[in-house]
Amino acid sequence: MNDAVRSQFPSLKRIVNGRPVVHLDGPAGTQVPQSVIDAMMHVYSHSNANTHGQFVTSQETDQLIEHTRNQVAALLGAEGGHTISFGANMTSLNFVLANAITKSLQPGDEILITQLDHEANRGPWLNQRRHGIVVREVLLEEDGSLDYADLEKKISEKTRVIAIGLASNIFGTVNEIDRVRQLAYEVGALLVVDGVHFLPHLLTDIREIDCDFLLCSAYKFYGPHVGILYSRPGALDRLDTDRLRVQTQNAPYRIERGTLNHAALAGVSAAVDFIASNGEGSTLREKIISAMGHIQKYERSLAQQLYLGLRDLDGVDIYGPPLKETQRAPTISFTVENKRPEDICRYLADHSICAWDGNFYAIRAVEAMGLMGQGGVTRMGIAVYNTPEEIDYVIATLKGLLNA
Ligand SMILES: Cc1ncc(COP(=O)(O)O)c(C=O)c1O
Repeated sequence: MNDAVRSQFPSLKRIVNGRPVVHLDGPAGTQVPQSVIDAMMHVYSHSNANTHGQFVTSQETDQLIEHTRNQVAALLGAEGGHTISFGANMTSLNFVLANAITKSLQPGDEILITQLDHEANRGPWLNQRRHGIVVREVLLEEDGSLDYADLEKKISEKTRVIAIGLASNIFGTVNEIDRVRQLAYEVGALLVVDGVHFLPHLLTDIREIDCDFLLCSAYKFYGPHVGILYSRPGALDRLDTDRLRVQTQNAPYRIERGTLNHAALAGVSAAVDFIASNGEGSTLREKIISAMGHIQKYERSLAQQLYLGLRDLDGVDIYGPPLKETQRAPTISFTVENKRPEDICRYLADHSICAWDGNFYAIRAVEAMGLMGQGGVTRMGIAVYNTPEEIDYVIATLKGLLNA
């Protein structure tokens, strides 16, 4: 799929230290295709206005926002734009959501979070302890998967919310959401899902996930910095969100605050079209389903190549579930004996490779695995624009480091 895809990303032409830059930093934000940049520029050069006016540019803004809600609904397989709200980023939306949900809880009620989750799906819930809410934490297993026996033990009639990720941004683990949903609904708990790391790599089908709320973030799927919240129809209208009396009171507006970033929303819509352009079909959703099939297969083969290349290097420990499992994100974290991740990443950077070191805000997972002292891990994430040649180059560069 690759030359045609790569040619759409202007930033991939950049030369750093004499070589085209290799982006394995996608889990912290992917590169952006020209169509997304053009869509954002078009707003500023053509129809820059606030909402609900009587004049043409304002009406275009209203249409743009509603169109983008429908585009994102198609990406998630949701029933329509009325289920999609926007915010500055996933973290901000989750704080507002958690605060609103807690207004209907009583001291002693329980919220279940996990050790595997990004802090954005932990911190907003841990904060609720100041209202007397008990927050319990599902343990992590050594292979980077959740301890489901522990999860079952910690769910009870007191559990009001289960906050869990679909995929781990550090180990690539895909959680068994069917199992969690079943347990959540048996006790009548709300299921709040962080889809940020899953969405760019695997097909998201909200009807299958069947959660109450799902959060994601457009800059992880080739778009600009916009947070997205899906709410089950009716679920948002039941929440007492902090909002202004002048704003529209019902879903999806009920959780949004102030003026949205209209240019960025144009970019989100274009990012959905970019994903769909990798597939075939007559409707947008059909194209997305087909595209995600191609993307998953392509990214998987590169992840496999990276995994096997790393596995053959002396002193390298790879974390997370084995790649042969079908449900896994193409994100690989590792450590190298006697080398700190920041030094590895600096060496890679000198060789034009962008990769992250540290904990990536999955800090609880890094603590639980005992990796804090050594500076966390090195993380490499595959995106749709990476190539087999890049992976060969990365492995050869790491060999050079190990032999130095
Ligand atoms: C799994 C996961 N959840 C949540 C977030 C937070 O997203 P945002 O930066 O939009 O707040 C991130 C960002 O890295 C993430 O990887």
